[in-house]
Amino acid sequence: MPALVLLGAQWGDEGKGKATDLLGGSVDYVVRYQGGNNAGHTVVVGDQKYALHLLPSGILSPGCTPVIGNGVVVDPAVLLSELSGLNERGVDTSKLLISGNAHLITPYHTTIDKVTERFLGKRKIGTTGRGIGPSYADKINRVGIRVQDIFDESILRQKVEAALDFKNQVLAKLYNRRAIAVDQVVEELLGYADQLRGYVTDTTLILNNAVDQGQVVLFEGGQGTLLDVDHGTYPFVTSSNPTAGGACTGTGVGPTKISRVIGILKAYTTRVGAGPFPTELLDEDGEKLRTIGGERGVTTGRDRRCGWFDAVIARYATRVNGLTDFFLTKLDVLTGWERIPVCVAYEIDGKRVEELPYSQTDFHHAKPIYETLPGWSEDITQAKTFDDLPKNAQRYVQALEEMSGAPISAIGVGPGRDETIQINSFL
Ligand code: GDP
Ligand code: IMO
Ligand code: MG
Repeated sequence: MPALVLLGAQWGDEGKGKATDLLGGSVDYVVRYQGGNNAGHTVVVGDQKYALHLLPSGILSPGCTPVIGNGVVVDPAVLLSELSGLNERGVDTSKLLISGNAHLITPYHTTIDKVTERFLGKRKIGTTGRGIGPSYADKINRVGIRVQDIFDESILRQKVEAALDFKNQVLAKLYNRRAIAVDQVVEELLGYADQLRGYVTDTTLILNNAVDQGQVVLFEGGQGTLLDVDHGTYPFVTSSNPTAGGACTGTGVGPTKISRVIGILKAYTTRVGAGPFPTELLDEDGEKLRTIGGERGVTTGRDRRCGWFDAVIARYATRVNGLTDFFLTKLDVLTGWERIPVCVAYEIDGKRVEELPYSQTDFHHAKPIYETLPGWSEDITQAKTFDDLPKNAQRYVQALEEMSGAPISAIGVGPGRDETIQINSFL
């Protein structure tokens, strides 16, 4: 079992942090492969709650080496403050490894993210405002600054000059903002060099060697399948590839080394930010899911939009990621509903459609077709095995599994590490 991918099967916030942490004790490396501090991964260990943004959730497992892969965008100020926050709570972060090829988020990326959103007005994406899109745009545009650049002042200066040459014109002439001084950016970035030097290395070499030696490497996705820039609800997406292929490009470990792809799937659906969401509930059921599920963003504190489970999306996640397993989370949140609707297909312009439409227009017109399953009222948070679940909860899980196209190998019945029913081992 050399390498596994763990990723979000919906629009993010499925419970990836908890699932990764659960596996952290049994794997050698946990690697973030894309995204940045737009992520908010919650891990609950005993009475301690941690919110991780940039650091892989494996950082809380002492035997595990956490890695930030080349596909991640790194805001050095956020990274250092996250590290010191954990150190203050007694977490050892000294094993962290950071790819020298990962791109940096600089203050001008964050500024551009915010002004662009303002400029878009009602067409805005609802980004986290963390500079993610602008940093990836620079990477693809070949004017990005990489982590390794902060160790060479002359290269750093040349690159910052090249990046700001154009951006300052846009900032001043289009957005009416003050130009950003090259010296100021260079100085700030150089200031991080000594603190980061010890972590930065050739992570691709280390990870491939680890896999070749039979060590277990877990790739932890940020965001989710429907937020993928290629496979998600474009343009209402993030600027990276959370889908399984992103684990390869974002770490330099080839697909032949990955044997398992686990999709984290919430027992209902949530979304933060703008964009289509067929099963969204704007009524009291939506409010109830938000309240009982604690559906408030870990990164921006925004209320999450809530809706019923959407099997069309789950099937799509199975397809585009080649999922081998699902980890179904937050089943406990559904306790107490007499009947639970599940979206099994869409009606689009009068026709029944079983698969996620590739056309944005069709997806905007998609109306959910529901099947209603009987609910349960018994508390399930103490359940340790599938048989401990009330019959209707078992039926709900079985129905989701049949509709979603991959086995449900674990079920979350609470936020804590122990509040999990393991059906098939992931390792
Ligand atoms: P991530 O971004 O995918 O890591 O998910 P978030 O941490 O943003 O949001 C998931 C929330 O659900 C967090 O508050 C978790 O502590 C919580 N959570 C995870 N699994 C479960 C579960 O099975 N039941 C309940 N009640 N909460 C869960
Ligand atoms: P985790 O890893 C949920 C959403 C934002 C916005 C869109 C683009 O905790 O699941 P960005 O700042 O990435 O350019 O914003 O993507 N988004 C997330 N939604 N969970 C996340 O991360 C998200 N990261 C970004 O709300 O709609
Ligand atoms: Mg989250």
